[in-house]
Amino acid sequence: MTRFSSFQSSYGGGDDQSVSRTLLCHVGGVPDEATGGGDLARITVDVPGRPYPVVIGRGALQDLPRLVKEMGVTAAAVVTDRTLAGLWGEVLQDGLTGYGLTAWIHAVEPGERAKSLTELERVLNFLEASSIDRRGVVIALGGGTVGDLAGFAAAVWLRGIRCVQVPTTLLAMVDSSIGGKTGVNLGRTKNAVGAYWQPALVVSDLALLETLPNTDYLAAFGEIVKYAVAMDRRLAEWLEADAESLLNRSSEALEPVVARCVELKAKVVAADEREGGLRAILNYGHTVGHAVESASAYAAAHGRAVALGMEAAARISLEMGLCDSALVGRQAAMMDRFGLPGELPPVTSEAVLAAVPRDKKSVGGRVPWVLPREMGRAQLGIKVPAETLARVVRALLP
Ligand SMILES: NC(=O)c1ccc[n+]([C@@H]2O[C@H](COP(=O)([O-])OP(=O)(O)OC[C@H]3O[C@@H](n4cnc5c(N)ncnc54)[C@H](O)[C@@H]3O)[C@@H](O)[C@H]2O)c1
Repeated sequence: MTRFSSFQSSYGGGDDQSVSRTLLCHVGGVPDEATGGGDLARITVDVPGRPYPVVIGRGALQDLPRLVKEMGVTAAAVVTDRTLAGLWGEVLQDGLTGYGLTAWIHAVEPGERAKSLTELERVLNFLEASSIDRRGVVIALGGGTVGDLAGFAAAVWLRGIRCVQVPTTLLAMVDSSIGGKTGVNLGRTKNAVGAYWQPALVVSDLALLETLPNTDYLAAFGEIVKYAVAMDRRLAEWLEADAESLLNRSSEALEPVVARCVELKAKVVAADEREGGLRAILNYGHTVGHAVESASAYAAAHGRAVALGMEAAARISLEMGLCDSALVGRQAAMMDRFGLPGELPPVTSEAVLAAVPRDKKSVGGRVPWVLPREMGRAQLGIKVPAETLARVVRALLP
């Protein structure tokens, strides 16, 4: 946490009023050697009427049963995936039952296949079989796919019960576990069916990243670079300076980066929960990114697809005279340091161009774009000529 206090936003004039952060000790009395010795950071997402805490740090999972019990919960339905069930699911279930809570566990398909109506129905059947009522809670233990699916199940079960997000990928820690966007894919449309359903609590334990494969770890930097380029010049400087430590997964380097991304997202979500305006900034890189995911039948890793989308958006911005070539080069160098975009499934430029108008943000087939202007600043709602988009995408993809 060494750099926590020295880090301030270059976005929104540095006004962090909607985000409050404190450092916590392990109130549950967890000894230092079991937690890696670090403090926990606590950031509040100040969504009007439903503020919730995000607890971040090594060992945070051990505080979860106490935090859940303090919410008045009696039974927990843990939704995870088949990979994670054996790695962390049993640890979590044991922790909950050890605290006197009833805890059931259900594992879905790993990866994007989890985000389907079929898996949703299975989760709902599980909630019914577990007799989870309104005093119960859904705990989403997994990456963004499990979080989106389980969050949506919590949103619709009994017209909505509480959900706790326990992200296990770096991408989920910095992005998807916060902000309440939940849902599943339908046909070729990414996140076509869903709901805004804010979690009641988010617990990000960096120790859970120890089992995360490197390719998934690196893909998350697609979203992290997104925050830097679109919103926070100082985060960009930080990523450039600390790349080596971040590649080595140093907790000292990683914790402040996770906390900073959470702060940025919390601030945007608190100001614009339903994406009436400002929240669209988080879609930087996502227009082409979602099209790549759709064209690859969701085989492309989200963070890598977003990285390619940011490369496309920056080149479009340059072509339109909205940024200079130094920005495009600096963003590319930053992504390259983290192996991004890296390997993507074979998708053609034509398939991607055909998918762009299907983006669910499109209105009448036109998508409002987020384009970078300078490091740490992006502009929303830009119209991009179809020829410019086609030229850029054809230069990037076969
Ligand atoms: N709701 C939002 O606001 C939001 C934001 C960004 C992305 N997303 C969504 O998030 C999804 C991508 O999530 P993701 O990148 O976390 O991928 P993911 O959930 O598919 O996880 C990637 C893989 O890593 C494995 N895994 C996860 N944690 C692990 C761990 N600790 N140890 C070992 N293996 C582990 C999983 O089993 C899976 O195979 C996409 O569907 C995307 O649309 C949602």
